[in-house]
Amino acid sequence: MYYPQEILEEVRLRNDIVDVIKGYIPLNKKGSSYFGLCPFHNEYTPSFSVSADKQLYYCFGCGAAGNVISFIMQMENCDFVEAVQRLADRAGIELPKAEYSPENAKKEKLKERLYELHSTAGLFYYQKLHSPDGLKALEYVNKRKISIPVQRKFGIGFAPNGITELFEHLKGKGFSLEEILESGLVLENKSKNGYHDRFYNRLMFPIFDIQGRCIGFGGRIMESGEPKYLNSPETIIFNKKRNLYGLNLARAERKKEIIIVEGYMDMITIYQAGFRNVAASLGTAFTAEHAALLRKFVTDVILVFDSDSAGEKAALRAIPILTDAGLRVKVLQVPDGKDPDEYIKHNGSLEFGKLLINAVSYMDFQIKCARRKYSMNDSEQKMLFTREAAELISNLSSPIERDMYIKKIADDTGISKHAVEEEIFNTDKKRDFEFKKQAEKQKIRKYDFKSNQKIQDINSTKGIMQAQSSIISICSSKKEICRRIMEILNPDEFKDETRSELLKYVYDCCLSGKDVLPADAVNIFENEESQKTAASVFCSKIDYNDSDELEKALNEQIKLIKRANLDYIASNAKTIEEIQKALEMKKSLESFELQL
Ligand code: CTP
Ligand code: MN
Repeated sequence: MYYPQEILEEVRLRNDIVDVIKGYIPLNKKGSSYFGLCPFHNEYTPSFSVSADKQLYYCFGCGAAGNVISFIMQMENCDFVEAVQRLADRAGIELPKAEYSPENAKKEKLKERLYELHSTAGLFYYQKLHSPDGLKALEYVNKRKISIPVQRKFGIGFAPNGITELFEHLKGKGFSLEEILESGLVLENKSKNGYHDRFYNRLMFPIFDIQGRCIGFGGRIMESGEPKYLNSPETIIFNKKRNLYGLNLARAERKKEIIIVEGYMDMITIYQAGFRNVAASLGTAFTAEHAALLRKFVTDVILVFDSDSAGEKAALRAIPILTDAGLRVKVLQVPDGKDPDEYIKHNGSLEFGKLLINAVSYMDFQIKCARRKYSMNDSEQKMLFTREAAELISNLSSPIERDMYIKKIADDTGISKHAVEEEIFNTDKKRDFEFKKQAEKQKIRKYDFKSNQKIQDINSTKGIMQAQSSIISICSSKKEICRRIMEILNPDEFKDETRSELLKYVYDCCLSGKDVLPADAVNIFENEESQKTAASVFCSKIDYNDSDELEKALNEQIKLIKRANLDYIASNAKTIEEIQKALEMKKSLESFELQL
């Protein structure tokens, strides 16, 4: 735990969840809860609920759940400590210095050192570019028409030709071998007889995270050769899936729209041309994490891609990822086989601005790409195209948009509007079915993975989870019952780690005579996944008509859990005796009955 529990409670109590969330999205009161459009998935009808009593949020659509701290973690893309800090600031609470576990303290320290190391390396490269060694590289920068202020803003530098120049420099600045190797900027020789720099004789582009810290580099070769761009490897501070090149600068523009390109140079040139709300994917495919990150700052994305087939493919792949995150997407294909950098250098920024204005909606783009594959003179092909288009249109939830595209397809193919609609209707149905099947599977997979257990019966796993949740929820609200259950059910019998921890917590509260506050229970976890599970345990509503019904349900749930646990023990047993014992216990379980 980073902060003492009392401090966390104080921070939470002084930040009412309804107030905090209202600062991000509009909420309407309905009964004892508030509802709004979920900020974590794309939806048109509100399924995101915030409970003022429980101080928890829960989305019935996507399952996002947690307390006020997890909300900030998810919304601001930050870790637990940072979320607590933000909320403490908001409420004017002075925080004591965070206490890390020894392991975490070591990791945090290493991270800090790596940020320092990268900024030292960045400065080293920058100075090299402006030293006699960097003359040719500087010539190259000028040839590519990067203005001096922009060179500075982006910290463009030069990795010199020597094999260990950076290595020596970093050692001289007091960085340890462990830190230097951890950064990935220096590698051990294959023959293991020494070390060498990762980058040499390359033009260097520092990569910054959203907070402006240097976390890696991209290096471009200046003559012909392979690879054209060499990038830092992933490290504890550099995750390519979660960072976009230039996003720190784009974010500062505070526009609701962002331009996304593929290349470093494209990003820089567009920025220099005055369109400063631009960022680049770092030579990797666009990910859902990228989209979630963007979603926090913008509502609209313009994908700008090269007009070659690779660019088109990349755009087609990025579209569903972005739209799933709830972003509005437009696409711009740069004409004449150029990339954005070349286009601007040939035609000027004004012309590029015109292209931006004329960017087409992603649906037009997808349909256009599909349309090209088929000939409208052939009825078979016409049908195939209509089917593909129907598939695309069925992704739209707005009836107005749907209608618009249905008309277009009908006009284009000569197929009746009604038939196109019918096709879409069938696709919708198929998709619903697939979605449900998939959702069911995913839930199970998660559990399999965590418990290392072979699960044959899908429903029984789900049942066990529900039973565990229900018991936690009942114990947390009824001390009397909790005391009884404590005698017969050990938290270790919960094979789901999060739920096991939660039950322990609820027992502890009961023993010390404290009430269980669901929002505080969420705080015993620091990772988002467990917080979500914890919150959803308390948000799942269980109503029993009378104590008989409750008693019956509890008995069934306890037996279910114990049986599963004994099966687990039996299947992991090392000796025959262990197996026999488990089986005997399983047998005696049949006559077990808890009476309230
Ligand atoms: N890229 C990469 N590694 C490579 C090639 C490309 O990481 N070996 C990434 C870089 O981010 C690069 C982008 O993919 O900027 C696009 O590559 P490409 O179109 O080949 O280069 P350009 O961006 O046009 O670079 P330049 O204008 O400098 O030739
Ligand atoms: Mn280029």
